[in-house]
Amino acid sequence: MAVSQCERDSNSCPNRVEPRREAVSGEAVFLFIRGVTDLATEGIRMKWLKREINAIFERDPAAKTLLEVLLCYPGLHALIFHRVAHALHRRGLVLLPRLISQFSRFLTGIEIHPGAKIGAGLFIDHGMGVVIGETAEVGDNVTIYQGATLGGTGKEKGKRHPTVGDNVVIGTGAKILGPIVIGESARIGAGSVVLNNVPSHTTVVGVPGRIVIYDGERVPSVDLNHVSLPDPVAEMLYCLQKQIDDLRFQQERCLKEGKAR
Ligand SMILES: CC(C)(COP(=O)(O)OP(=O)(O)OC[C@H]1O[C@@H](n2cnc3c(N)ncnc32)[C@H](O)[C@@H]1OP(=O)(O)O)[C@@H](O)C(=O)NCCC(=O)NCCS
Repeated sequence: MAVSQCERDSNSCPNRVEPRREAVSGEAVFLFIRGVTDLATEGIRMKWLKREINAIFERDPAAKTLLEVLLCYPGLHALIFHRVAHALHRRGLVLLPRLISQFSRFLTGIEIHPGAKIGAGLFIDHGMGVVIGETAEVGDNVTIYQGATLGGTGKEKGKRHPTVGDNVVIGTGAKILGPIVIGESARIGAGSVVLNNVPSHTTVVGVPGRIVIYDGERVPSVDLNHVSLPDPVAEMLYCLQKQIDDLRFQQERCLKEGKAR
């Protein structure tokens, strides 16, 4: 095919459009530098890093020295990588943050999507197998043990991962799925599968997750819907039914005794 004058001498062509790839990569480099600069500024202040390190000392009796914490805690490493990836993600980059997230996963076994919003003082203990999805939100002072998942159910778009309140503990291997809310100071038992909202100050265990402790009180397990809060009306109906059964039993016994006489 013949090459036009315009294509041969591209600089002289009035309709010449700069290739988008160049513009995009230039923007990417700019955003990357800005992201790293922001992070360095924040890092120099050392506030968030100090808080993450303190969280490890507060919640892991095995942590002895600062050097040990800096070198041997994959949860801390994953959070540092996530900090960079999330800063770039917020500036609209897609591939670079994902690559950082995947590299972090390769090193630590913890996969945090760059879009996930993570609060201060998160402690990911041991870490291997932890997955935190794109639209997940994690509050302050949360503890997550190995193998826990904050995942989507794979059906919906938009917000599809859990929102976890402050001071929540998520046990090893727990699966929290869907755009549900885990109230503050809730505790999710090891191995639980949680598909519904969890009120604050409750303990949830099992598959599917059911509330076993509410505000420090054990929740009785009779005639209750285990996935939601105790239902006083259901309990009352249960008591009434029991009384009716007792009365019917007594009435029948009286009738039998009367006939016998
Ligand atoms: C859920 C958890 C926080 C509950 O602790 P707790 O408040 O002390 O509650 P209890 O141990 O009194 O348990 C309450 C009830 O839930 C049951 N239960 C506790 N954890 C459970 C679990 N993971 N799966 C199923 N049932 C569980 C208990 O057997 C008990 O049942 P009962 O009332 O019929 O006896 C705790 O058991 C847990 O799973 N923590 C996670 C720890 C973890 O992942 N560690 C990893 C370290 S590497």
